[in-house]
Amino acid sequence: MARALIVYATRTGESQKIAELIAEGLRFSANEVTIKDVNEIKKESDLAGYDIYAFGSPTYHGEMMTRMKSFLFIAEKADLKGKKGGSFGSFGWSGEAAERIFDTMKNIYEMDMVDSPLMLKGISVDGGVKVAQDYGKKLSARITA
Ligand SMILES: Cc1cc2nc3c(=O)[nH]c(=O)nc-3n(C[C@H](O)[C@H](O)[C@H](O)COP(=O)(O)O)c2cc1C
Repeated sequence: MARALIVYATRTGESQKIAELIAEGLRFSANEVTIKDVNEIKKESDLAGYDIYAFGSPTYHGEMMTRMKSFLFIAEKADLKGKKGGSFGSFGWSGEAAERIFDTMKNIYEMDMVDSPLMLKGISVDGGVKVAQDYGKKLSARITA
C-alpha cells in the first residue's frame, strides 16, 4: 500500500472538493491518503514519508494563491526527487495555478509527474467528479506501472 499526501489551497472551497475527489480515486486502489490545508504545513518534515503527492491551488489574477507559493518553497527543501506527483486547481478561464505548480514539481523538485495538471472549473461542471476521481486513479497507477 502506498501513502499519498494531498495539499490544497482554496478561497471558496472548490479546490478542496477537488482534493477530496482525488483522494477517493487514490483510495480506490487501497492507498492511504492524507489531505491537508496548505496552512497546516509548517516545515519540510511535514512532507516526509509519502510516495505520492498532489498539490493544488485555484487561480486568482493569473496566479496561484500566495500561501501556495510559500508552501512551494517549503516543499523545495523536502527532497521529493523521483516521487510520484500531480497538481490540480479550480479555475474560471485561464487556470495558470495548476500549471505553475506542475512545472515546479517537475523542474525544481524533479518529481515523476503524471502527464498533465488537473484543471477543473468545478466538480459539478464537465463531469468534474469523475474526472477528479480518475486523476487520483491515474496517480495511483503510476506506483504500480
Ligand atoms: C477576483 C477573482 C479573480 C479571478 N482570477 C482568475 C484568473 O485569473 N484566472 C482564472 O482562470 N480564474 C480566475 N478566477 C476564478 C477562480 O479561479 C474560480 O472561482 C475558482 O473556482 C476558485 O476556486 P476556490 O473555490 O478553490 O477558491 C478569479 C475569481 C475571482 C473572484
